[in-house]
Amino acid sequence: MKNQWGHDITPIDEIIRQSEHRDIISNSTAGMLGAIGRSFTEVQEVLSILFDSSFSGNIQRLEKVLHDKITSQGGSPEIMRSGMDERAKVIHSEIQEYLLGDSLADIGCGSGVVSWLSRDNFTDILLYDEINYLDPKVKLPFVNIPSGSSFPLDRSFDCTLLLTVLHHAEHPLKLLQDVWKCTKQRLIGNVLNLWKEVSEKQDIAERKKNGIRTCSVPSLSK
Ligand SMILES: C[S@@+](CC[C@H](N)C(=O)[O-])C[C@H]1O[C@@H](n2cnc3c(N)ncnc32)[C@H](O)[C@@H]1O
Repeated sequence: MKNQWGHDITPIDEIIRQSEHRDIISNSTAGMLGAIGRSFTEVQEVLSILFDSSFSGNIQRLEKVLHDKITSQGGSPEIMRSGMDERAKVIHSEIQEYLLGDSLADIGCGSGVVSWLSRDNFTDILLYDEINYLDPKVKLPFVNIPSGSSFPLDRSFDCTLLLTVLHHAEHPLKLLQDVWKCTKQRLIGNVLNLWKEVSEKQDIAERKKNGIRTCSVPSLSK
């Protein structure tokens, strides 16, 4: 598999199944699912899907099966919701001072809560994602981008968000270029730099104490 610049890279599903990654993936998955009230058996079920080699080469299907498994049964949706809200508040506090203009597009909006918290800054907000899992409290218009299709270039926005999206996208460079074309004033985006966090040996307990944090959010202005 080649990346956007033509370099050979290992597909994510192969990385997941490399034996040296097994412990870190098992522990972090158990930690996250435990935090939302999932039982030991449910954690084991999710791990067996993650390590199931029959998903080889089909990461979208693996993501969908995991997403459905994690969100559809057991545990407590309220705990999950409040965890997501805390995360959105942290991200919102990080981007607040960079928001500008009247119109906002949130590409890869996820639950949509970050834009919901930003709603007083804008008169016009549009949410985009490949999957619709908006939080029910988010009353903002949503546009579905079917998986594999290009970002629609039919209008432009003063401000655009690409928050923890590019590292999930199948064609990140194309998505960034398309979103930049639609940006009139400022694009705010970030990618999760897990390697940096691991290499700096960040204290996980300290991070938990401070709330779930993303990396700092850079922005590009025109
Ligand atoms: C980690 S979530 C981030 C959600 C939200 N931005 C936030 O920070 O709360 C990544 C999101 O990007 C979406 N996504 C990935 N590739 C995409 C694409 N090409 N176009 C639109 N959304 C995409 C996924 O469906 C997922 O909801």
